[in-house]
Amino acid sequence: MKSISLTQFLIEQQREGRINADLRLLIEVVARACKRISIAVGKGALGGVLGSAGTENVQGETQKKLDVLSNEILLEANAWGGHLAALASEEMDDPHPIPDRYPKGEYLLVFDPLDGSSNIDVNISVGTIFSVLRCPEGVKEPDEKAFLQPGTQQVAAGYAVYGSSTVLVLTLGDGVYQFTLDREQGNFPLTHAKMRIPEDTSEFAINMSNMRHWEPPMRRYIDELLAGKTGPRGRDFNMRWVASMVADVHRILTRGGIFIYPRDLKDPGKPGKLRLMYEANPMAFIVEQAGGAATTGRERILAIAPAQLHQRVPVFLGSKNEVERVTAYHLTPADRADAYA
Ligand code: AHG
Ligand code: MN
Ligand code: MN
Repeated sequence: MKSISLTQFLIEQQREGRINADLRLLIEVVARACKRISIAVGKGALGGVLGSAGTENVQGETQKKLDVLSNEILLEANAWGGHLAALASEEMDDPHPIPDRYPKGEYLLVFDPLDGSSNIDVNISVGTIFSVLRCPEGVKEPDEKAFLQPGTQQVAAGYAVYGSSTVLVLTLGDGVYQFTLDREQGNFPLTHAKMRIPEDTSEFAINMSNMRHWEPPMRRYIDELLAGKTGPRGRDFNMRWVASMVADVHRILTRGGIFIYPRDLKDPGKPGKLRLMYEANPMAFIVEQAGGAATTGRERILAIAPAQLHQRVPVFLGSKNEVERVTAYHLTPADRADAYA
């Protein structure tokens, strides 16, 4: 079977009235930028792109050379097309305006340019995550406030994984589609349409080293999974943790599972590690579109009204029945902890 390319897919979506020409251009431009990042990642030590940039981002994290380079590639690619009103990135303190010399469009682009930075130097999959919002009506110079929209307002979201192959996963609000980069042709043929996450799973993804800092409902949930066949769940569970959210979510989209980065009490001031706007919202949109669920353990991620651009949240996402179960544990008063059968 001959598959269609991303370009063809987007044109069809436009013809069917699902997207306009600007949104089509936006996705094309992001895909092109991801292709450039993929090439840089693929060169590894030969490209001189490994290691630290010697700077820190607004969240106090050390930036890697590839964090900075990927951010620049995405900024440069998106500045001149006329499809954007502004951009915001995990790696920049404030929203980035479109230079005055270029026309402005109606969309806001939000991204984590390089997800999984700790894996860059060790040749493990990393990726890019992005989310598209509409610029609020009448706003000419979008500031932070223009971006503070709940995830339900996203018009598109996607991610690229730079792994053994480079894939681009996309939702425009009507299912989830996967494209695989053909390195020789330089295009992205459609390789999976209408992806579905199985409702049940026996695989979980979590950084267990934080266990002693977790809240009681989290410990209860993981204790039950670890108890396996002889415990209350009556079956064995398997564990995987890549430490690149893109790769962990991609596995879950492909074969099911639950991904958890809970709030922990190591640093009580921090409500979680992952960022709402750059990581949680786009991934929650994709996961819900594939039939899965995404919560903070207490509420639906997409329903959160953001208070800050760089806000962090706990993340529970993936196979629906597991996400619902662990969310119910969080919402069950401690004295009724055995209420959820
Ligand atoms: P980033 O590289 O964009 O800062 O994100 C890293 C995130 C996420 O990709 C991953 O799931 C998580 O951090 C890993 O955290 P630990 O190192 O605490 O396991
Ligand atoms: Mn990230
Ligand atoms: Mn990042």
